[in-house]
Amino acid sequence: MKNELADRVSAAIRDVPDFPKPGILFKDITPVLQDGDLFNTVIHYFCERYESLNITKVVGIESRGFIFASAIAHELSTGLVLIRKPGKLPYQTIGVDYSLEYGTDRVEMHVDAVQKNERIVIVDDLLATGGTMGAGIELCKKAGANVVEAGFLIQLDFLDGVKNLHGVPTHSLIHF
Ligand code: PRP
Ligand code: MG
Repeated sequence: MKNELADRVSAAIRDVPDFPKPGILFKDITPVLQDGDLFNTVIHYFCERYESLNITKVVGIESRGFIFASAIAHELSTGLVLIRKPGKLPYQTIGVDYSLEYGTDRVEMHVDAVQKNERIVIVDDLLATGGTMGAGIELCKKAGANVVEAGFLIQLDFLDGVKNLHGVPTHSLIHF
């Protein structure tokens, strides 16, 4: 099932040159979301992977990660946890700063979002440098969670983002 689905998703993803900056080839996932059967099949694929792992929460990273995390959490009847960009969450937060090519960024989560030793998966649309997911994993570990897997729709292998994921197992539907 994986290869056939991966081919369908690869064919649907739209390459947009020079977005958001000159020289960047943007992987646009919106055609995958616009195709009801394809979006549904992608969500089922991840749910089948996670349904027997005793996962209690699916964690999504703002903003494109939310799309997949919420659909998977809904289907598995687990809780959904939001990792957000700074200053967006209303209650007390814990945060992790991470480096970008120029400067730093930060991700935050509510202090009570995950419990100690809770089994979670973290989901995002894309693994590029791994900066975002690396910080997300660190944040979940800081809260004491057992991070079972980091799941992605797309992984850009040439950027070797896996090295920033603190040894957490990863799974990506498609690799470029
Ligand atoms: C993109 C993408 C991942 C991240 C991957 O998010 O959705 O979250 O970058 O890059 P990295 O592995 O180099 O950290 P972006 O920050 O563009 O925000 P968005 O999801 O809100 O569009
Ligand atoms: Mg993102």
